[in-house]
Parts: sequence; structure tokens; C-alpha cells
Amino acid sequence: MSAIAWRRQLSVGQPSIDEDHKHLIEYLNDLDVALNARVFLPARVAKILMKLLEYTQEHFSREEKIMQLVRYPKFDDHVRQHHEAVRMIGELSGHFSRDPSHQNAERIYTFTANWLVNHIIMQDTQLTPYVRGVWV
Ligand SMILES: [Fe+2]
Repeated sequence: MSAIAWRRQLSVGQPSIDEDHKHLIEYLNDLDVALNARVFLPARVAKILMKLLEYTQEHFSREEKIMQLVRYPKFDDHVRQHHEAVRMIGELSGHFSRDPSHQNAERIYTFTANWLVNHIIMQDTQLTPYVRGVWV
């Protein structure tokens, strides 16, 4: 595992969306640090996970409001992807709360980090022509 670095490729070009993505990456990097700590502390991981989950949902609803505001044509499909991610992360978190092992925590990290980077690059950047110059 390695920390995710913010890069230009990840920029959607709308300040609040980009700031949200930077925060999500910070939480993921916090999780990565907790997973690489010499001593694995499930309570520390659980705390980061709670923040990550909460912030992910807040971010999705902010992004969805912006998409509605600009009448993004692929809104429904994009929202479906958000729901699917929330469902998957929720499921993986459920496994972790039942069995707070390093392996279960790592599964959450791997899924969420891959999903987020891929989603930003493949989906969120499609918003750029619609949201550039939109201040919310
Ligand atoms: Fe998105």
C-alpha cells in the first residue's frame, strides 16, 4: 500500500468537489498509516472508518446537488454508482465491525482507494465541462 497523492489528473475543476476529494484522500491516507502502524489498533481504524463513511456520504450528496444544479445528463447513472459504492463500503465495514482484523480493514482500504481514484478519473472528470465556473 502506498499513500495516494493528489495530482492534476484528479481535478474536476469545481472547487468544492475538488476540496471534498482531497479530504477523502486524506482520510484514506490516514487509514493507510493506521494499517501500516507497527501495532494494529482496531479502535483507531474504526474511528477513521466512521469519519470516512460519513464524509463520503456528505460528499456524494454535495456532488449530486451540483449535478442537479447544472442538469448533468448522466445524473441517474452517476448516482447509481454512488449508491453502489456506499453499499459496498457499508458491507465491508460490517465485516470489519464483526471481525476487526487487519485483513478486513485492508479490504476496505483497497476497495475504497481503488474505487475513488477510478471514479474520479473516469466519472467525476466528465462533469468538468458542466461544472467549471460553478461556485457553490
Ligand atoms: Fe461522483
